[in-house]
Amino acid sequence: MCGIVAYIGPREAYPIILKGLKRLEYRGYDSAGVALLNHGLKIYKKKGKVADLEESLIGKDLQANAGIGHTRWATHGEPNDRNAHPHSSASGKLAMIHNGIIENYAQLKVELTKKGYQFKSDTDTEVLLNFIEDIQKNNGCELEEALRIALKRVVGAYVIVLLDREHPDTIIAARKGSPLVIGIGKGEHFLASDASPIIEYTKEVVYVNDYELAIIKRDELILKNLGNEKITPYIQKLDLELTAIEKGGYDFFMLKEIFEQPDTIFDCLRGRLDVTKGTITMAGVQNNIEQLKNANRIIIIACGTSWHAGLVAEYVIEELCRIPVEVEYASEFRYRNPVIQKGDVILAISQSGETADTIVAIERAKEQGAFIFGVVNVVGSSIARISNAGAYTHAGPEIGVASTKAFTAQLVVLTMIALKLAMEKKTIDQDRYTHLINELHNVPEKVREVLQAHQYIQELAEKYKNAKDALYLGRGYNFPVALEGALKLKEISYIHAEGYPAAEMKHGPIALVDESLPVVFVATRDSYHEKIVSNIQEIKARKGKVIAVISEGDEIIPKLANDVIVVPEADELIAPMIGTIPLQLLACYIGIAKGYDVDKPRNLAKSVTVE
Ligand code: F6R
Repeated sequence: MCGIVAYIGPREAYPIILKGLKRLEYRGYDSAGVALLNHGLKIYKKKGKVADLEESLIGKDLQANAGIGHTRWATHGEPNDRNAHPHSSASGKLAMIHNGIIENYAQLKVELTKKGYQFKSDTDTEVLLNFIEDIQKNNGCELEEALRIALKRVVGAYVIVLLDREHPDTIIAARKGSPLVIGIGKGEHFLASDASPIIEYTKEVVYVNDYELAIIKRDELILKNLGNEKITPYIQKLDLELTAIEKGGYDFFMLKEIFEQPDTIFDCLRGRLDVTKGTITMAGVQNNIEQLKNANRIIIIACGTSWHAGLVAEYVIEELCRIPVEVEYASEFRYRNPVIQKGDVILAISQSGETADTIVAIERAKEQGAFIFGVVNVVGSSIARISNAGAYTHAGPEIGVASTKAFTAQLVVLTMIALKLAMEKKTIDQDRYTHLINELHNVPEKVREVLQAHQYIQELAEKYKNAKDALYLGRGYNFPVALEGALKLKEISYIHAEGYPAAEMKHGPIALVDESLPVVFVATRDSYHEKIVSNIQEIKARKGKVIAVISEGDEIIPKLANDVIVVPEADELIAPMIGTIPLQLLACYIGIAKGYDVDKPRNLAKSVTVE
């Protein structure tokens, strides 16, 4: 969380930084600020969104060829002007932006306070900045050296970027645990939390690794480790177009991303699934096939929506491959003492590839010798790099804070992996395999069909937008879909929603049901269909309002439900990829109907790089 941008070169820095911050706003939008270097150091910051900062700066002298900018997701200190970044050091010589958490900041603060330092903000960032300045003062060394010394004492995660008034030709940055990309232009450099602020200027980038320092001038990029040894930057070419990160005529990124799903699912299948030959090609799986197919156990680690994709994968992998699967919240896994045995495979799922809890959980598992397979969307992200092998979901940049297209792409990739392993293990017969790969091939078209019902779903959103609570129920493969539907509604519309296995409902949640409670059933035709019909009846008997997602041709549920959303028939293993779509639309339209900015739900950030 928190987005950072920096520029040094011949152009005006401010417009580049401002545009970059708008692209990174999905990472946090509590406050924003810039520091510009030109005949002195000027810092401007403001509570609120980047647009509020922009407005407050109209008429100001913003000329500079070097600068840093930040959009914040508050951790230490409430969102206000004071706590906004950049922060300035006690002497006013240095300015710094930071993404991450300095866990031992309280101790450092005590030490600095004893030395007479006073703090203008409540942030861990200002403490670290003054700690660096104090080291520089005491040792009489260059900023780079002071930073290196400081970072050896720092516990926590960070990307920090520093400007020094006395060295206006240099930007210094360092990374541990939060993302940092450097764009290399002609006589100019760009820094950002991801590539989106950079792509319109250059496609040549360097992903900075943990424990690396970057010393950046217009014409020079020096990478070093904390031991002051130079590292040769590994320059990569970005495979990303500007159109992919623009709204393309939609009012919200979330809507655009929901509607993109026929294409993103197609992209995810492209080059992998060949229905005519009956093959699935996934190099990451193929190259490690012995390890994967002989896994004693697969442990899936993920957070949020990615965790829901993991739950679907548990059902699919156990069914098709007969390998035991456990699904763990990364945030729990990392803090307990999990038993990892020889032959265990960790499947880490993450859209951003930067989720702090998932990264640390992977590290813990790696320490115990586990093989890590990453299913990640963002190319070159931390999780992609620390995994032993993996498969990208190829959903393209997801900017709406609530995950949509990344989820369906995860389901597709995970199902392909399961099918490939099942074939290798001979736990699936040829007919079932052929049927399922045909079903996968047809998903983009079926999703397109569901999206055609958008107006009807918008009407339902109007009808239910004033609900105070909602219950989402599903069974089997559709249980995680119910969880995901409830999560989307909570995030976007601030309506309290709970997802539950439909059969569990009578062990508690049924007490909530009355005539004011909408109950969304994910009830597409599957092996549990008759059971879920009974569950619907149980809700109707208590006067709950039933909205059911059903398969076409279902003649029973329309007679029971208050409203139905009909989706194309699909195999039960594939159905979650389709049944999820109307729930995404319903949540999104309810949020919009209530007047919320669905791309930036309160308190959330897209990439959770703090624990
Ligand atoms: C929900 C959502 C979050 C993320 C979670 C994990 O809409 O977006 O729950 O799924 O923060 O993020 P990744 O997948 O980037 O690791």
